[in-house]
Amino acid sequence: MSASISFMDPEVQLCPFKAYDEVRGPAKVYQDPATGWYYVTDYETVRKLSADAANLSSFTGVLMCKTKSAHQDEIDAIWQSEGFLPTPVLVVSDPPDHAFYRSFVDRSFSPARVKRMEEYLEGIVDDIIAEHGGRDVMEFRSDVATRLTLSVIADQLGMPRSDWKQLDEWSDAVMAHQDQSIPPEKEKALVHKICELHQYAARKAEEYRREPRECLLSDFANMEVDGRRLTMREFAAMVEQGLTGGKDTSASAMCSAMLRLCEDPALQERLRADPALIPPFFEEVLRIDSPVQGLFREARSDLEVGGTRIPRGSVVVLKWGAANRDPAMFPEPDQLKLDRTNTRRHLTFGYGPHACVGNLLARAEARILFTKLLANMKNFRLADGPESVKRVPHFFSYGPMALHVRYESLPGAAS
Ligand code: HEM
Repeated sequence: MSASISFMDPEVQLCPFKAYDEVRGPAKVYQDPATGWYYVTDYETVRKLSADAANLSSFTGVLMCKTKSAHQDEIDAIWQSEGFLPTPVLVVSDPPDHAFYRSFVDRSFSPARVKRMEEYLEGIVDDIIAEHGGRDVMEFRSDVATRLTLSVIADQLGMPRSDWKQLDEWSDAVMAHQDQSIPPEKEKALVHKICELHQYAARKAEEYRREPRECLLSDFANMEVDGRRLTMREFAAMVEQGLTGGKDTSASAMCSAMLRLCEDPALQERLRADPALIPPFFEEVLRIDSPVQGLFREARSDLEVGGTRIPRGSVVVLKWGAANRDPAMFPEPDQLKLDRTNTRRHLTFGYGPHACVGNLLARAEARILFTKLLANMKNFRLADGPESVKRVPHFFSYGPMALHVRYESLPGAAS
C-alpha cells in the first residue's frame, strides 16, 4: 500500500479507482496523509460502519460548519435578516433527531408514490425529447439530465417548471456552501443566494398550509410528528436537502450511463432490442460510477476497526464507490455486466438509517429516460471525442459535468 495517496489530490478525485485498489487491504482502514481522515474501502466494513449510528455520528463539521469562524457573526446576521439560520437535519443529523426528520420524508418516494408518478415522469421526458427532435447534438447534463431532475424537484416544491434554472442556481449555491474552504466574501454571496430559496420556501409553506397538495414541500409544511411541526429553521434546511439530494446525484448517474452508451454502440443496440435490460444496465452504472463516492462520519468514542485505532472525534470516510468495486463482493468489478446477479447489493445509496430516501425515484427517472431515448434516437456518440467530456475533481461527487452527445432521431420519433 502506498502511504502517499491522498483522496484530496485532484488527480485521484478525477479517477479514484486505482487508489481504492491500492489502499483496500487487510488493514481495512487508510489514513489520508493530507487530512488525517480515516478511509474505509472494502465492502463488508463500509456496509457495517454505514449502519453504525451508535458509534459514528453524521454531524461531522465537514459538510456543515460546527465551529464559529472569525466572520461568523456577519454571516449569521445575513441568515437571520434574509432567511433562517442553518440547523443539522436528515443527512447531517443523529438519533434521536434523525428519526424525527426521517419521518417527514419516509413516505415521500415510497414504492406506491413513485409508481403513481410514472405517467407524469413520462410526460416530462416526452417534452424533453420533443425539444431535441430536430437537432443532432445535445449537452446531455444540462439539457436532459438536470432538466429532468429539476423539473421533478420544481413540481415537488410547487414551482413552475419553467423556473428550473432558478432552482439550479439555488441548489448550486447550497452545494458550493458545503465547501468549508471558501473565502468569506464568496460565502456571503452564497448565503444571500440561499436565503432567496428560504424566502421562496417560506411563502410556499404558507400557501400549502392553507391548501395542502401531494408534494414534498406540502408534506414538510403540514406534517406533524411526535405532536409537532418543523420549525422554520428546520423547514428551510429540509428544503435545501430535498433540492440538492436529488439533483446532481441523479444527473451524474444519468450522465455516466449516457457516457457508457456512447462508448459502446453494441450496448445501445442490445438495450434498444431488449428494454428489459435497461434497469440492470442502470444498476451496474450506479455500482461502477457511484455519483456520491463517499460521505463522512465522526467517531463518537475511540474505535478499533480491523486493528486500527481511530481516536474519538476523528473523521471516518465511508467510500461507497470503493466498496462497489471490491472484487471480494463483485468479481471483475470494473466490468459492466448486465447478467451480474448481485448488482443491487451495491452501496451507492448508502446503507442503514441514512440510506437514500430518493432511490426509487432516481431509478424510475433513469429507466423512463433511457427507454424513451433509445426508442426515439440512435447512434449516440461523443460530439467532439473524449475531450468534450468535462469532469471536475470533487471531494465526494463523481460524474461528467458536461457531455456533448451527437445522435440521430429515429423515423417517426417525437419532434
Ligand atoms: C442516483 C441518485 C442518488 C444517489 C447516488 C444518492 C445517494 C445518497 C446516499 C449515498 C445517501 C446516504 C447518506 C449517508 O448515509 O450519509 C443519500 C441520502 C439521502 N438522499 Fe439520496 N441519492 C440519490 C438520489 C436522491 C433523490 C432523487 C432524492 C430526493 C429527491 C434524494 C434525497 C436524499 C435524502 C433526503 C437523503 C438523506 C437521508 C437521511 O439522512 O436519512 N436522493 N443519498
